[in-house]
Amino acid sequence: MRIACLVVLVATTAVAHADEPRMLKGPYLQDLAPTSITVMWHLDQAAPAHVVVEGPGGARAIDAVAARIGEATIDRLAPASRYRYRVEVGAHSWNGEFATAPAVGTDVPFSFIVMGDTRNGTDAHRRVVERMAQEVPDFVLGTGDMVDDGSHEDQWQQFFDIENRLLRDNVYYPSVGNHDRQGRGRTADSYRAFFSVPENGGDTERYYAFSYAAARFLVLDSNEYSFALSDQTAWLERELIAARQDPAVHHVFVVMHHPPFSISVHGGSLDLRERWTPLFEKYQVSAVFSGHDHVYERAESGGIRYFVSGGGGAPLYPRRPNPSPVDLEAVKKFERAFHFLRVTVTGSRVEVTGVRTDGTVIETTAWADSAPPVLAPSSAAQRAAVAGPAAGAAAPVVTPAEPPAPESTDSGSLVWIGLGGVGLLLAAAVTVVRTLRR
Ligand SMILES: [Fe+2]
Repeated sequence: MRIACLVVLVATTAVAHADEPRMLKGPYLQDLAPTSITVMWHLDQAAPAHVVVEGPGGARAIDAVAARIGEATIDRLAPASRYRYRVEVGAHSWNGEFATAPAVGTDVPFSFIVMGDTRNGTDAHRRVVERMAQEVPDFVLGTGDMVDDGSHEDQWQQFFDIENRLLRDNVYYPSVGNHDRQGRGRTADSYRAFFSVPENGGDTERYYAFSYAAARFLVLDSNEYSFALSDQTAWLERELIAARQDPAVHHVFVVMHHPPFSISVHGGSLDLRERWTPLFEKYQVSAVFSGHDHVYERAESGGIRYFVSGGGGAPLYPRRPNPSPVDLEAVKKFERAFHFLRVTVTGSRVEVTGVRTDGTVIETTAWADSAPPVLAPSSAAQRAAVAGPAAGAAAPVVTPAEPPAPESTDSGSLVWIGLGGVGLLLAAAVTVVRTLRR
């Protein structure tokens, strides 16, 4: 009899656990601001959740409606403060922590990580994330191509499985890569569903802007149709003008998947060079971070610094045999390595370090952003035009690289071509570049 009762009890317990919602992704952090943050999660079945936040001012609880992909925005937080949080679903709970952003315009030091092109390169992706976990960034920027095919749920699951611990305690700002889209219409339904970014762009969540301390970040959708069929370019210029009208904005950083300059497989994007690079120069952005080519690259053009960070785990790309002269002239450093970027901002100084998975450094580039002229609202465009390209840009300082890790293949320094050669090659550049455009 006692045995029979025990069997019944065990069976009941097993049924109860089978009915419990299972956490598939997260919880993970989104949309960081001085007084608010968004917590997201993905369950295997719709269920209500309870989010508890503890920090300055005590503990608060928020009830989230039943959903498979749930989110809760916690507001009325104290700026620059550390909190612990807990997501409770049924009988289970998951813990994490975060720090709110400093007040917008506050000139305090901060750091962030840039990485991208994981694309289900599982083992390498895991190694990159393990190295990133040793950093203490204020947030993480993604340069896109998180998965091979945005319509495959199992690939998104794999991305979050690997990033789970990192994104539980670090806010992630994604940009949409060409592989993150899905279907014939190249929609970004999964991307939109899994991420909750500021909804201040014209095409909701595909491009957006946010502020952190004295910096403004513009995250763009560089997929071709997005600037052909949207008003993104007009939005970008409005954002740049607004940033330059704001004396509290000392740095403007741009993130987008496709690079304007690259000497790897895809090469630089002519469309981006025609449409957006002139704006980056006109309004003196501090740096542009991209992916798409699975390498590390640093380029300079028109006084603007461009970084390709596509070494997040997808198979590494080689240097292309015949880069376009435009790309070749712009790219100053190339390395075929799994890596991420550590970016630190201290006052006017910006420092970008490429870090391999073994912790060694590809190179460190540092410069000071001198204060650009603040545009008067009534004559912003005219004054920006007068300011000219990169008027306030200072020459970067590049520290010598450490030897590459064994798993990396350093293709060596760039081959500098003579000035006469540049002239001849430029004459053929237009035809070559249009052939190579993506
Ligand atoms: Fe890509």
